[in-house]
Amino acid sequence: MTRTVLRGRVLTFRSEPQGLDDAASYRYLEDGAIVIADGKIVALEDFSAVDTDDAQIIDHRPHLILPGFIDLHVHYVQSQMIASYAGSLLEWLNNYTFIEEQKFSQQGHAGAIASAFYDELIRNGTTTAVAYCSSHPRSVDAYFAEAEKRNMLMVGGKVMMDRNAPEALCDTPQSSYDDTKALIARWHGRSRGLYAISPRFAITSSPEQMEIARALVAEHPECHVQTHLSENDAEIKLSMELYPGAKDYTGIYEDFGLLGPRTLIGHCIHLNHRETHVLAETKAVAVFCPTSNLFLGSGLFDRERLMMAGVRIGVATDIGGGTSYSMLRTLDEGYKVLQLRGQRLTPFDSFYMMTLGNARALSLQGTIGTIESGCSADLVVLNANATSAMALRMLTVANLYEELFLLQTLGDDRAVAEVYVAGAPAKSSLAS
Ligand code: GUN
Ligand code: ZN
Repeated sequence: MTRTVLRGRVLTFRSEPQGLDDAASYRYLEDGAIVIADGKIVALEDFSAVDTDDAQIIDHRPHLILPGFIDLHVHYVQSQMIASYAGSLLEWLNNYTFIEEQKFSQQGHAGAIASAFYDELIRNGTTTAVAYCSSHPRSVDAYFAEAEKRNMLMVGGKVMMDRNAPEALCDTPQSSYDDTKALIARWHGRSRGLYAISPRFAITSSPEQMEIARALVAEHPECHVQTHLSENDAEIKLSMELYPGAKDYTGIYEDFGLLGPRTLIGHCIHLNHRETHVLAETKAVAVFCPTSNLFLGSGLFDRERLMMAGVRIGVATDIGGGTSYSMLRTLDEGYKVLQLRGQRLTPFDSFYMMTLGNARALSLQGTIGTIESGCSADLVVLNANATSAMALRMLTVANLYEELFLLQTLGDDRAVAEVYVAGAPAKSSLAS
């Protein structure tokens, strides 16, 4: 068996950091060796302790090696409409998003965009993402086929939407059931693909389609579920008009049995006390999308309140409402959102969230998100000297958390020196 040994400074988390002094929450090796065989991590040790006979050694010193980043909410079908000039959510959806997503009915379009999208993920150090495809099954086929080609662990699904959008984008309750069933059968568990049942949000799903979503979730407890919740005031108001019997916006999804430990819910910005409690009780995951929330003027995520209530939290780019594929840029903006809320996000919190935190949100800890024996060798190599401005600041950096904070604050795809997917170099293999 050929073994590869990656040498470098290695950081991986063990638990959620409880402050800057919580050294027990992570493992940091100044001269570490990640031993890889058959795409999996076999060991993480000090380099001096490793038997390097017959191993291929790749030396990444002085760079930092971490688990590959995980993006918990992204719309790959919006890759060509990032940076669309619009006001708030509903205007942006109607004027740009619902127009753009119609292109995925065309043969060939989905494959081309999926390929470009995966290139961007890799450039930015993201090795797993959870994506919304369009309502067209072929967009899902292209998404998972590309993941399979690249041997990436990717989660995604066909958006279910049967109203309040252009007819060309709408499915029906029955077609969304049939298509979702067929796509789960085709892609869930094939290679590293995992399916997410994806009712877009309450506004674009009729009660009949919500019933269908309930049936799909009940029939496929192995699948993830994803939707949007409480992003924008006008969205909340319209949702309550469309579901007048619901206690509140969260109550709509609750009533249709869509909330559970495999449910990922984008945004969750304007929740009342009851809603927060329901998310905690059901163990659904609230997904913080800072660049999107700022870009669309949606509001400031209240991490502290949700954490205090016991709600599980993840973090994501939300391309194309979000403005960067980079999880470094995303956490930089997340830090600023929380500053405006008077809340602290330590550099350890940020890097935990991008790796083990998001793996736990997916219930995939032990598979991705950490550097430990048995995990997939999905890794990112970070260079904190990547730009002249970063190198200048690095001269005064005194410790690990300052370096992490510099990477988050000034870093982007240029700080990603290499990426490994199941042990194979992926960034240096991209056609430039
Ligand atoms: N709510 C429903 N669909 C979307 C979407 O595509 N992006 C965002 N940000 N919010 C949504
Ligand atoms: Zn979204």
